[in-house]
Amino acid sequence: MKKVNIAIDGPSGAGKSTIARRLAERFRITYVDTGAMYRAVALLVFRKGLDGLDEAAVVALLPEADVSLTYGEQGQRVLLSGEDVSEQIRRHEISEMTSRISGYPAVRAHLLGLQQRTAAAVSCVLDGRDIGTVVLPHADLKIFLTASPEERARRRHLELTQKGQEISFEQVLEDLIARDERDSSRAASPLKKADDAVEVDTTGKNLDESVELICEIFVKRLGEGPFCGGAAPCS
Ligand code: DC
Repeated sequence: MKKVNIAIDGPSGAGKSTIARRLAERFRITYVDTGAMYRAVALLVFRKGLDGLDEAAVVALLPEADVSLTYGEQGQRVLLSGEDVSEQIRRHEISEMTSRISGYPAVRAHLLGLQQRTAAAVSCVLDGRDIGTVVLPHADLKIFLTASPEERARRRHLELTQKGQEISFEQVLEDLIARDERDSSRAASPLKKADDAVEVDTTGKNLDESVELICEIFVKRLGEGPFCGGAAPCS
């Protein structure tokens, strides 16, 4: 049975995680949220009372940053030294911290092996910023998802307020634009479309329309499956 790896990259709020999850369900493959791994490291930095701006202090913490993933009925869970931190890493202050520390080359190197090992073991769709360019340059399909900053901020604001976090739309928009700038301009693995990625702009499209469009691209390129890694192991 064929093993497939799909890379979905793009800025925050473009819909990567929701679309990647839906693709994974539809084609019975695994969804790997690489942002969650960076967020788990950021949570550790936050818990240590650091502001994340001192690269050497963050790098010194990496031996303690034991990040792993498990998959069960609730989908992917991210563990930090065995503790399930999947909910805590979604807080706004952790998003800010993640954007700071994910630019450090040692942090990226710390998580690269885990991402590549996961992709080597199963058919999966990974979402992130550098999956198509650095982590899986030979991915079977690469999608670069975009949407306007206002639309992305609207989605993020709704997501946060639905979880009970009090924050204004203006603040979310301002922070999102700053994070885009940091993610795109950093020296280590900046957010960048791979030359062979298909660009999909989801502005003005609802979720179902975006998923439908990407499923069509998927089937055209890779067929309907079945793919190993769902019910059948990839050996
Ligand atoms: O996808 P997300 O919003 O959970 O990502 C959180 C942060 O992590 C964001 O600032 C970009 C960074 N990130 C990264 O640098 N590389 C990845 N592969 C995934 C996320």
